[in-house]
Amino acid sequence: MAPVYEATVSAPVNIAVIKYWGKRDPTLILPTNSSLSVTLSQDHLSTRTTVRASPDFGGDRLWLNGAEEDVGASRRLANAIATARGLRAALEDQAGGGAVPLSQWPVHVCSENNFPTAAGLASSASGYAALVSALAALYELPQSASELSRVARVGSGSACRSMLGGFVAWHAGVAADGSDSLAEQVAARQHWPEMQALVLVVSDQKKAVSSTAGMQTTVETSALFAERVRTVVPARMAAMQRAIAERDFAAFAEITMKDSNQFHAVCLDTYPPISYMNDTSRAIAGLVHAFNAAVGRVAAAYTYDAGPNAVIYALEPDMRALVELLAYCFPRPADTAPEAFYPDPFGLFES
Ligand code: PMV
Repeated sequence: MAPVYEATVSAPVNIAVIKYWGKRDPTLILPTNSSLSVTLSQDHLSTRTTVRASPDFGGDRLWLNGAEEDVGASRRLANAIATARGLRAALEDQAGGGAVPLSQWPVHVCSENNFPTAAGLASSASGYAALVSALAALYELPQSASELSRVARVGSGSACRSMLGGFVAWHAGVAADGSDSLAEQVAARQHWPEMQALVLVVSDQKKAVSSTAGMQTTVETSALFAERVRTVVPARMAAMQRAIAERDFAAFAEITMKDSNQFHAVCLDTYPPISYMNDTSRAIAGLVHAFNAAVGRVAAAYTYDAGPNAVIYALEPDMRALVELLAYCFPRPADTAPEAFYPDPFGLFES
């Protein structure tokens, strides 16, 4: 029987506090601006991927949450696998025939999210990061996580940031070949242990405008967008890295909210306009501002990606107070199980 080589790796979701929106090269996925994110805990939102390689496999195949997907239908998936294979082929060349020719064998990929894929919760970020990490393990690639982030990037831009934990910057880079467009850790998670993220699922519907289609139209039609890329984001990247280094939550929170607001403003300035937030999203943003006003400091921040779901950042113990307030203002519908509606990480509520 022909040999089967296998590796399994999990990767987490990340949520940007300075948003990536716009590509200068859609094939290599090179962004128009740098971005910065927080990688969330693997326990709650992550993708677990197993890759297997064998000379007996008829071709590359992929199963996503148990259902087979058409590998040929996704150019990005093909690009990500081909890039990882290229790195393995280089390794085999160096070994001069002394390495198993894994780069020549088809792969089977089996990927599972521990959260609903369609819920608009950055599943492509954890998905491509898990795929690339699993291929790197299978192929025994010597590259660092930061170097491998370039491979995850060609699958989905934001995935490059999920290759690292803690606070992560994706440097836009200037090179046409994408060699300097990679993710780097700004600070480890332990640098700021009190920092917490709360995910509020406002809607689990698939988004109406994909990020790929949306950002392309923004680049082509928004007048505000050029200003964002030229002056706003570079200043915010520097200020955000300072806020993280100094553990200055008020500065971190203010930049996070302003950048989310500007990202959605640029979407509205796109023609035809793109509207990702809904009335509930806006009510949550209003509540965060009311909470901050009530406590007399900037104690919580909201951010929204290409969909209506909110992610809240706050430090312990402010997060506890905020969770109680949110549960009071957005009570659980009578037909929902408490654990399904509210996971209750703090054990604050009776079931
Ligand atoms: O990587 P994509 O194509 O899913 O784009 C993600 C874009 C945002 O989530 C809206 C912002 C970001 O930086 O993650």
